[in-house]
Amino acid sequence: MTTVIDGNEIGDQITEGVAECTETLVNEGVTPGLATVLMSDDGASETYVSMKQQACAEIGIEGYHYELDADEPAETLFATIDDLNADPAVHGILVQMPVPDHVDKREVLERIDPMKDVDGFHPENVGRLVSGNARYKPCTPHGVQKILAKTGIETEGKDAVVVGRSDIVGKPMANLLIQYGSGGNATATVCHSRTDDLAAKTRDADIVIAAAGVPEMIDGSMLTEGTTVIDVGINRVDADTEKGYELVGDVDFESAKAKADAITPVPGGVGPLTIAMLMYNTVKAASLQSGVDVTLP
Ligand code: GUN
Repeated sequence: MTTVIDGNEIGDQITEGVAECTETLVNEGVTPGLATVLMSDDGASETYVSMKQQACAEIGIEGYHYELDADEPAETLFATIDDLNADPAVHGILVQMPVPDHVDKREVLERIDPMKDVDGFHPENVGRLVSGNARYKPCTPHGVQKILAKTGIETEGKDAVVVGRSDIVGKPMANLLIQYGSGGNATATVCHSRTDDLAAKTRDADIVIAAAGVPEMIDGSMLTEGTTVIDVGINRVDADTEKGYELVGDVDFESAKAKADAITPVPGGVGPLTIAMLMYNTVKAASLQSGVDVTLP
């Protein structure tokens, strides 16, 4: 029997622990604050940001939300970030990616105070992660680690194939998998659009993590019996539904499920963990900035 991993349930467990930490902080006079900044007309980005704000409200984190027109100059975004860096009520800052083409993504990431960089995308935080001393682990790869741990899937000594080399998921995912210790100690291979014979790599894997942003690109024929399949993709594809689209992952669920030992669905797999780990990082940020200790889940 294939285990279909329930990301909502795992996300709820973590959120519960994060909510307890939030209560501890509030009782000490520190209300964790998360600022989200959206500079995009993209419908999916709007949805993701509003889900993040909703999660804050449910947990007791103070949410602050800023929307900038997509055609505003980059300086407006930088000024917003500067204000948030200086605001002691804001412990975490998230600028939803992607930003418009005329805005240099790297300048945005470097502008955010590394102590408030709850995405873990600032070069200082990337460096800390790579050197095994992470401050804020990027939310989606950290969520994948939690899914594996809570499902009892060992990573030590396993061959993990990450499909996709993004700064947001693929690269940090591979880095987490090769770290010393629990949730790490794996042999990680990062595949991407120029990889020769991808199917040979995925067929050799114990764990496949699909994060390429290509709808249903990994199917059962590319997998060996007993593989763990983690689908990070959330792709909107045209469909005859009320909204005119449906969400599919990077994995062809039915054919992959026939081969997998355990698999995450889309939606309801990795997505809820991304949000739970953002709440986790925000509470960690509030703890680090206030000096009030909490025990994170
Ligand atoms: N866009 C897609 N995923 C993410 C994320 O984890 N953080 C930010 N800031 N933008 C994103």
